[in-house]
Amino acid sequence: MTPSQQIATSSDASVDLEDKIRTHKAEIGIIGLGYVGLPEAMEFAKAGYSVTGFDIDAERVSKVNHGTSYVEDVDSREMSDLVRQKKLRATADFRILADMDVIHICVPTPLRKTRDPDISYIVSAVEEIKNNLRRGQLVILESTTYPGTTEEVVAPTLASTGLAVGTDVHLCFSPERVNPGDKQFPIYTIPKVVGGITPRCAELAMALYSQIVSQVVSVSSTKAAEAVKLLENTFRAVNIGLVNELALMCSKLDIDVWEIIHAASTKPFGFMPFYPGPGLGGHCIPVDPLYLSWTARLNGFEARFIELAAQINGAMPHYVVTRITEALNEHAKSLRGSRVLILGVAYKRDVGDIRESPALEIITLLQGKKAQVAYHDPHVPWLLHNGKRFESQALDAATLAEQDCVVIATDHTNLDYKWVTEHATCVVDTRNATKDVNGHRHKVTKL
Ligand SMILES: NC(=O)c1ccc[n+]([C@@H]2O[C@H](COP(=O)([O-])OP(=O)(O)OC[C@H]3O[C@@H](n4cnc5c(N)ncnc54)[C@H](O)[C@@H]3O)[C@@H](O)[C@H]2O)c1
Repeated sequence: MTPSQQIATSSDASVDLEDKIRTHKAEIGIIGLGYVGLPEAMEFAKAGYSVTGFDIDAERVSKVNHGTSYVEDVDSREMSDLVRQKKLRATADFRILADMDVIHICVPTPLRKTRDPDISYIVSAVEEIKNNLRRGQLVILESTTYPGTTEEVVAPTLASTGLAVGTDVHLCFSPERVNPGDKQFPIYTIPKVVGGITPRCAELAMALYSQIVSQVVSVSSTKAAEAVKLLENTFRAVNIGLVNELALMCSKLDIDVWEIIHAASTKPFGFMPFYPGPGLGGHCIPVDPLYLSWTARLNGFEARFIELAAQINGAMPHYVVTRITEALNEHAKSLRGSRVLILGVAYKRDVGDIRESPALEIITLLQGKKAQVAYHDPHVPWLLHNGKRFESQALDAATLAEQDCVVIATDHTNLDYKWVTEHATCVVDTRNATKDVNGHRHKVTKL
């Protein structure tokens, strides 16, 4: 009998667990307290559960226990209240996993240098769970990964303890959809998708998530749930690739790509706007589609849309540097020796996350051409890049006027782009942040 054929009976360990979940008495453990794990820990604690976060980063553990947030969407005051009420704590002692009723895995899933999936963080988290596994626990993998990971990697490790997955312990995959910096969609408004190793596993996870989100959607298997997340992010990567290609095309045709996207967006059906930019960034969109194409390739299928989008999106930082060179040329300047100020190095608006940020590649390319590069980003006070420490420059009218070129790489909302354009002599705008600037338009080069 395969695990997915095993049906729960009222004598299995899940009855007690379901009761604890519904009465908010379940002890919730969350492995990995980052952009995904910390907000989720907060949601369960706010719902009344007792939550323990597990992380290998001692500084993060200490910050949680002191109620000091390091994630933009998590409020320190709210966090310290929950810590004081003993609803939330963090530890690096994985033996405490044995006390948990539910264990979520929210660790990173990056790419290796070869651009293949690196699931080593999942593997090490699952080893810790295995060493502390007991009957009656529910384990939920939330890290984005290739279809088959839960069934082929997590389940056998848990089963190696002698406990039966699906009856003694329960196992699900539920992709995380949190969108850091997005005030419009707080966690409880984002439906959660769940796939279980057995239908009973899924039922338990549904009972749990329905305590913190408005809708839970069940799919037939963990593999299906894993694929849902990859479809969502591949959809975005491919559509961004399409509009980036459109931006390159429009530049040749002398059409404003932003104008046509905005006008096309007025169509009430069959169109969804995506916007061009300096390239993909963050832990998800540039990475996740490659998890899908990798697993497809292993199964003899070439995912051509994914590869093409990765090529186009990956070339955008080079295109931005071309636009900077052209803009400087208009002022009879060369890139070599020019002072270039990058506004916004985070990968997207209003967050401090610089993982895979295209701004970093633009900096590398500009340095390669011997430009003098500095940056300003209110969310990133400093950064280490290519072995060099950079500090965010204070921004005033004089600093802007001193630059040969100001590049808007990320359009954080707290900057007044009209003011930037008034004081800078040459602006390259990769985000259409200057759309409302009427005077000084001659200074602005768009994508
Ligand atoms: N950031 C997002 O917007 C987002 C959205 C949806 C899904 N995801 C997915 O969620 C997962 C987590 O992403 P994130 O952005 O929260 O990552 P993150 O880097 O912000 O946080 C991961 C945390 O896990 C900890 N960690 C690493 N290995 C560990 C281990 N063995 N045991 C305990 N802790 C460990 C790290 O110290 C870190 O604090 C990834 O698979 C990602 O693709 C991320």
